[in-house]
Amino acid sequence: MEYTFSMIKPGAVEGNNIGAILQKIEVAGFSICAMKKSWLTKEQAQVFYEVHKDRPFFDDLTEFMSSGPIIALIIEKENAVEDFRTLIGATDPSKAEPGTIRAMFAKSVSQNAIHGSDSIENAEIEADYFFAKRERY
Ligand code: RTP
Ligand code: MG
Repeated sequence: MEYTFSMIKPGAVEGNNIGAILQKIEVAGFSICAMKKSWLTKEQAQVFYEVHKDRPFFDDLTEFMSSGPIIALIIEKENAVEDFRTLIGATDPSKAEPGTIRAMFAKSVSQNAIHGSDSIENAEIEADYFFAKRERY
């Protein structure tokens, strides 16, 4: 069984969309292995998105990701990484397929409701950043 890492971003948490998003995740066949509420510092958001550190949107992105609490998740399913990217939809919500989480809950490309790991390798790194082994079942 494959797993991926996700975060419900500030904005979606603030908008009381945690329950609706979790329901879409479960209905799509994912099991929740680990879940917690956390509030990243700007420095922690910079570490999490370090791969984008030279991009023009890096400061806006890390400012937003540290602007309020997030929900961190490890979710499990066959082909989890790829299938979850399909479920969340395109980075820019105006280009996301109808019915995807970003089409339904994102406000803009920079406030796009949810994160999903882009590879199995990054899912492992990101899950380890948030969760101890004893927090995953
Ligand atoms: P995420 O990592 O948050 O799941 O998003 P993603 O894979 O769909 O997109 P990625 O390329 O990893 O970019 C990370 C976040 O940076 C913001 N972004 N803004 N203004 C822009 O052109 C732009 N490009 C990316 C988005 O908020 C994106 O989620
Ligand atoms: Mg990404």
